[in-house]
Amino acid sequence: MAYYSLFQLYYKLLRSLIYSKTKYAAGGVCTSTARLDGKTVLITGANTGIGKETALDLAVRGARVIMACRDVEKGEEAAASIRAAYSKADVEVRELDLADTCSIRAFAQKFLREVNHLHILINNAGVMMCPYTKTVDGFEMHIGVNHLGHFLLTSLLIGLLKRSAPARIVVVSSLAHNFGWIRFHDLHSQGSYNSGLAYCQSKLANVLFTRELARRLKGTQTHTDTQHMGERTDDPHCSNKTQQVED
Ligand SMILES: NC(=O)c1ccc[n+]([C@@H]2O[C@H](COP(=O)([O-])OP(=O)(O)OC[C@H]3O[C@@H](n4cnc5c(N)ncnc54)[C@H](OP(=O)(O)O)[C@@H]3O)[C@@H](O)[C@H]2O)c1
Repeated sequence: MAYYSLFQLYYKLLRSLIYSKTKYAAGGVCTSTARLDGKTVLITGANTGIGKETALDLAVRGARVIMACRDVEKGEEAAASIRAAYSKADVEVRELDLADTCSIRAFAQKFLREVNHLHILINNAGVMMCPYTKTVDGFEMHIGVNHLGHFLLTSLLIGLLKRSAPARIVVVSSLAHNFGWIRFHDLHSQGSYNSGLAYCQSKLANVLFTRELARRLKGTQTHTDTQHMGERTDDPHCSNKTQQVED
């Protein structure tokens, strides 16, 4: 009998431990209903997953949402489904391939010519644990897309963000950043490659970039956030749970 109770206690403890760990990884749920009328938002990788859900949510709250996608056709399909869900959605799609600095520069040039304000930039697009590949410019894909591509995009748009202040830059990272370190001796994993470590390194780079950006933007009314986007429980419709990692 005593043996049985001990087993029950152990089982309950284990269950509550797993539950707390899952809850921690899932993060909080964004329940904000703040209106964003008159605000312009740019989201990278908005044709699917977390980016698409975020685009829908911000459009419903009145923002003009610009969806930056590498596959315009997929982007247009996503925009159409957002309009189908909310007929007043002000969404548009623009082409951006973060694995190609020429594409990023062309995107920014056109954007700066045609868009007068940018209040929120959401650096969301990301590759996760892909086989070893390189960007057009020869960077390892995770660090190239997740960090360097967004680094260049943000640098090119920072003037417009400052002119549109109050503004916000959100960098989508992950709790995975905790398991990463920056391999300064082999940033592009040419010596050895592990897709998990490459992902974690890129997500840590996201956090470090945001922290330094926050320091440099102090007093400009342009704020920065890094977000862990929780756990996706299914493919096209994520849970969109967010947990702030850094401010
Ligand atoms: N999923 C999770 O549980 C989780 C947890 C923590 C953090 N995050 C972070 O949340 C973000 C979004 O994740 P997700 O789950 O929504 O991923 P996803 O469904 O795989 O979507 C990734 C998006 O990034 C785009 N993308 C990839 N490479 C690109 C490039 N070279 N140029 C432009 N866009 C590119 C993809 O476009 P295509 O459709 O054309 O490939 C897609 O739109 C990522 O930064 C990820 O690290 C996710």
